[in-house]
Order: sequence, then structure tokens, then C-alpha cells
Amino acid sequence: MSFKDKLVAVTGAAGGIGQSLCRYFAEEGAAIAALDKSESVKTFAAELKATGARITPCVTDVSDKKQVASTFEKLGPVDILINNAGFSAHPTFAKTDPEGWDFDIDGNLNGAYYCAHAVIPGMKEKGCGSIIAIGSVNGLMGFGDPAYSASKAGLISLTKSLAMEYGRFNIRANIVLPGTVRTPLWDLKAGKDDTTFERLRKWYPLGRIVEPIDVARTVAFLASDAASAITGASLVVDCGLTAGNIVMTRELTIQDF
Ligand SMILES: NC(=O)c1ccc[n+]([C@@H]2O[C@H](COP(=O)([O-])OP(=O)(O)OC[C@H]3O[C@@H](n4cnc5c(N)ncnc54)[C@H](O)[C@@H]3O)[C@@H](O)[C@H]2O)c1
Repeated sequence: MSFKDKLVAVTGAAGGIGQSLCRYFAEEGAAIAALDKSESVKTFAAELKATGARITPCVTDVSDKKQVASTFEKLGPVDILINNAGFSAHPTFAKTDPEGWDFDIDGNLNGAYYCAHAVIPGMKEKGCGSIIAIGSVNGLMGFGDPAYSASKAGLISLTKSLAMEYGRFNIRANIVLPGTVRTPLWDLKAGKDDTTFERLRKWYPLGRIVEPIDVARTVAFLASDAASAITGASLVVDCGLTAGNIVMTRELTIQDF
């Protein structure tokens, strides 16, 4: 899976999954444009550069359409766009006021649209391209965070629309739907409550949660020529979470598995 001579744009590049994506694609020979609204993307990029990676940090808030357009204009044509930036700021409907709803939809869904809109002309000109979104199992089922979940469901739809409309230009669009991923944010929660991972594990048929590298490998597969016939797909990377309800299954079958 070599990505030599490819320019890969990763949004949310300074975060847990974003860093793993940048490292993985850099190791596979790609040049990376690392977009993040946080200035910390500069420090991360400098660290990765020191290992020999070709990486350019771009401090960009993807929910700001002007910033997105200006960043991609400077970058020139990209081969692979990974819409990874995302967050959940409102855990319940009761705690989501209209401003909060807009904030979550802007960061998680509209930003992905702005980035796709910015890269498609260059991909059309090249006659190829791959756009991959990092969605969530929240886009499929109810797990709280209503605005976040609605935006992740929206990303599945956006992915299908892109696949339909741009397939004839050899531009593929796919989405990866992770379950709980062990990122620094979760490690922080676990630091405050050491039962966190143990309590989570019981919901996952594989008996573990997802690691950032699991997501990076799946994205790399979808971006590679090995997946040249795959477009419009939603691929769960969830250690079996959405295969069924394992906790209920244990109860129903009275089996200790
Ligand atoms: N960690 C999980 O359990 C999990 C599960 C399913 C899906 N995901 C998805 O994976 C993606 C990455 O999440 P993560 O766990 O690495 O989170 P993270 O908080 O570690 O990283 C997210 C990064 O996105 C950046 N970001 C947020 N809003 C932005 C904006 N408007 N413009 C530019 N950058 C922005 C943040 O600064 C941060 O660096 C997200 O889309 C998230 O929804 C995560």
C-alpha cells in the first residue's frame, strides 16, 4: 500500500486518530497536509518532520468556509482527503441549545462538505481521487450526543452522494464508522476512573475497544488501489459493537461468553 507521490490532507490532524493517520500515511510515503484548528498541529508536524516525514501543518478551522478555501488553494490539488475533524460538545438533547446544535453540525458535517467542495475540482482535473470520512457508529444507532450523531449520519449520506456524482471521474468516497477508539481523551477519562475501559469492554464482542491504528489501517485500505472498486461504502471498525447487542445476547442465551 504505497502512497508515494500522493498528497494526503488530514483534518483534525492534531488529535488522537488524526496523528495516527498522519504517521501511517507518512510511513507509506505520502506527503501530508495536516489541518487542525489547534495550533498544536504545528508542534506535532515538527515532531513528525524530524523523523523524515513530509508534512505541512495548516492551522484551519474546517467550520469556516473561507479558511478552508484559502488553505486548499495554497495546497494545490490533493489526492486523498480524510475528513477526520470531529468532536461532541453536547451529550444530550436537553443540553443542546440552538447555538450548540449549529456548532456541532458546523464542525462535524459542514466542515467535511467545505473540504470536499474545495478538493473536488483538483481531483476531477487529475482524473482520480479518494475522499474518506471518519464517521461513527453514532451515525447508525442511538448512543447519545444527538447533534454529533445527526452530523455523523449526515456524513454517511454525503459520502453516498459524492460516490454517485463523482464516480465517473474516478473519484471514490467512503466512510469509516469507528466504535470507541482509545485516544488520549479516553485515556484521560480512564485516568479519573480506572473502571472506564473495563465497563466499555463488555459491550464489544471482540472484548476490546478500537485502537487509532485500526482506523488508520482501514482508511489506508479504502484509499489504496486495493479498494479501487469500492465507493459509497460505510465500513464499521467497531470490534463488533453493531453486530448485535452482546450484553442482551448473553442474558438471552444465559451463556458466559
Ligand atoms: N475517539 C473515539 O472514540 C471516536 C469514535 C468514533 C468516531 N470518532 C471520530 O474520529 C474523529 C477523530 O476523533 P479523535 O478521537 O481523534 O478526537 P480528538 O479530540 O483527539 O481529535 C479531534 C481533532 O479535531 C480537531 N478539530 C475539532 N474541530 C475542528 C475544526 N472545526 N476544524 C479543524 N479541526 C478541528 C481538534 O482540534 C482535534 O485535534 C472524529 O471525527 C470523531 O468523531 C472518534
